[in-house]
Formats: sequence, C-alpha cells, structure tokens
Amino acid sequence: MTKKRVFSGIRPTGEFHLGNYFGALRTWVDLVENYECIYSVVDYHAITTPFDPKEMPLTIFNSMASLLAIGLSPENCSLMLQSDVPEHTELAWVLSCIAPLGQMERMTQFKEKSQQSPENINLGLLSYPALMASDIIVYRAQAVPVGDDQVQHLELTRDLTRKFNNQYGEFFPDPEPILSKTPRLMGLDGKSKMSKSLGNHISLFEQPDVLQKKVLTAVTDENRKRRSDPGNPDICNIFALHNIFSSAEEVETVNRECRTAGIGCVDCKKMLLTHVEPFIAPFRDRYTELQNKPAEVHEAFQEGAKRCRPIARETVDGVKQRMGLGSHAVSQQSVTAS
Ligand code: AMP
Ligand code: TRP
Repeated sequence: MTKKRVFSGIRPTGEFHLGNYFGALRTWVDLVENYECIYSVVDYHAITTPFDPKEMPLTIFNSMASLLAIGLSPENCSLMLQSDVPEHTELAWVLSCIAPLGQMERMTQFKEKSQQSPENINLGLLSYPALMASDIIVYRAQAVPVGDDQVQHLELTRDLTRKFNNQYGEFFPDPEPILSKTPRLMGLDGKSKMSKSLGNHISLFEQPDVLQKKVLTAVTDENRKRRSDPGNPDICNIFALHNIFSSAEEVETVNRECRTAGIGCVDCKKMLLTHVEPFIAPFRDRYTELQNKPAEVHEAFQEGAKRCRPIARETVDGVKQRMGLGSHAVSQQSVTAS
C-alpha cells in the first residue's frame, strides 16, 4: 500500500525551542515511519515580517540543522527549503486569485501581525495563508501536522482546495490536520506562550549551564511567597513541564508535595532538570556536530528539493492545464482550430 503524503513547514527563526518541539516538531518526527513526509523551512514566509538579509542565511542554516538534529534525515523524509522549489510561489498566485479577500482579512494571524507592526502591513502578510495552502497542495498532501495556531489556515487551505476542485475539476485531495498533543507550552515567565521573540523560551539545544539558570530563575506560582506556603501546580509552568518530562508517578508526587508545601520550588525545579537535560543532550550534540558539517546540512536539503521539484512541477502543470493557461493549452487550441 502506498503511504499517505504529509507536508508541513516551519518559519526559519534559527534555533527552535521546546514549544516548537512539543507543539509541532515532535509530531513531524513521529509521522516519518508511516507517512511519506515532506518538511520545509519556509523562507518566503519569513519575509512577511521584518528581517535582516545579512542574518537570514545563518538563521535559515540553523533552522535546517535543527530539523536534522531532532532526527529528521533524507533517509526518513524529504527536507527542503521553500524558495528552492519556485512552484510554491507559482501556485500561490493561482490560489490568491481564488481566495476571497474578506476571508483573508479575517485570518487571526493576519489581524494579530497587523496590530503588532502597523507600519508593515504588506500584501504578503495578507496572502501568507495562500502561500501556506500552496506549500501543502503543490504536493497534493493528504495530511498536515500543525499546531493549534495554524488550524484556521488549514481550514482555509481546505476551502481553496474544494473551490478549485469545484470550478476546474477534481484534482486536489482534502488535506487533513494532524494536531499535536501539546497545543500550547507556556514560557518561563509563566505569562505568555513560550516564544523566542519574548525571550521566555528554552532552546532545544540549550547549554547545560544556561538551561539550569533559566529553569532555576523561572517564575512559578506567584502567590507562593515563602517556602512554607502551599503552591498551586495548576498555574505553574514548571509543573506543566513536569507533565511532559516526568513519569506519572513523579508528576503525582510533585502535585501532592507542592500543594502541601512538602517540597519547595527549587526542589521541584531540580527534579525537572534531571529530566530535561538528558532529553536535550543528544539533540544538542547532534546540532553542534552539524555546525561543523555544513555540507551535510546543505546536501540533505538539496536532495530534498531535487525529489520535490518534479512533484510540484507536475501539479502546477496540471493546474495550468485545467485552467486553460500556458502555451501548451494555447498550442492545443491552434491544433483544434486548424
Ligand atoms: P513560530 O514560528 O514561533 O510560530 O512556531 C512554529 C510552530 O511551533 C507554531 O506554528 C506552533 O505550532 C509551534 N509553537 C510555537 N510556540 C509554541 C508554544 N509555546 N507551544 C506550543 N506550540 C508552539
Ligand atoms: N504558517 C506556519 C507557521 O507559522 C508555517 C507553515 C508554512 C506551514 N507553510 C506551511 C505549516 C504548510 C504547515 C503546512 O507555523
């Protein structure tokens, strides 16, 4: 039986953090066994928000190396850089001619980003979801692992796919979302979701001393002022991390002992560190190794682009044919006319 095809993408932000991993990337790794997976560093999406062209190559390289460091490789999936396969942007144009303007303007991410940088509301920010839809359907992918923040964009993708199929004939499969089990990991400030731009994150490749410092200084239940006060794990982001990293038994102990002031926050954090450090260590080692082997990273992505390009070309040619576009369709017309 042929495997179902999966596509997903991540914007290049350099090194990824635990939120990216548990919210999205872990699912990517889980899927490679049973699906034909294509994973992309989406550099064209990155330019919808302000960026520095001098820093971009390193940021992209680090994002590429990060994907290899977490266990993805040309042996178990295809890895590609979005701008290496121009068919993504070619099909995005077609989709932008199908996408209703009103629906694009109602996208939560567009509204949020427009509010964040009112001086930079460019057309790309608005058509961002059309490019994302194109990323997916240019490979006629059947499933898409996404974090919950991207579900709305995937719904739009499905709307555009159905619209295309209705207007121009059945061509694209309906891509299904595959949701991660950890939709939102809080940052170490305990206030917002973990995010690199807010600086409240733990990198997936954090050095041991930095990791220790970040965890030991993280905000916990702010109502717990003294060691003898009972704490509330329900509002503590360190407890949320225990839920991910620690055994059920230890989670149970931490929960009980925190509520009864049996353990203090420092004890609790030290227990957490005994799990997070060994989890990060192999990722960090591989990431460091890849920093010294840039050719391995480039080759992996080059090979991915080579595999992906013919699939994408075939799709775009199929689209043009169905829409009556391109010199091939025109030459067919003159054959029939003569
Ligand atoms: P970003 O580039 O920061 O938007 O992150 C890429 C993807 O990682 C997002 O689409 C989310 O699915 C996931 N992600 C990022 N931060 C978190 C978080 N704090 N908790 C869960 N998932 C996250
Ligand atoms: N928009 C996604 C994010 O911000 C990244 C992305 C681009 C993507 N193209 C995609 C995700 C295609 C899934 C499928 O996280």
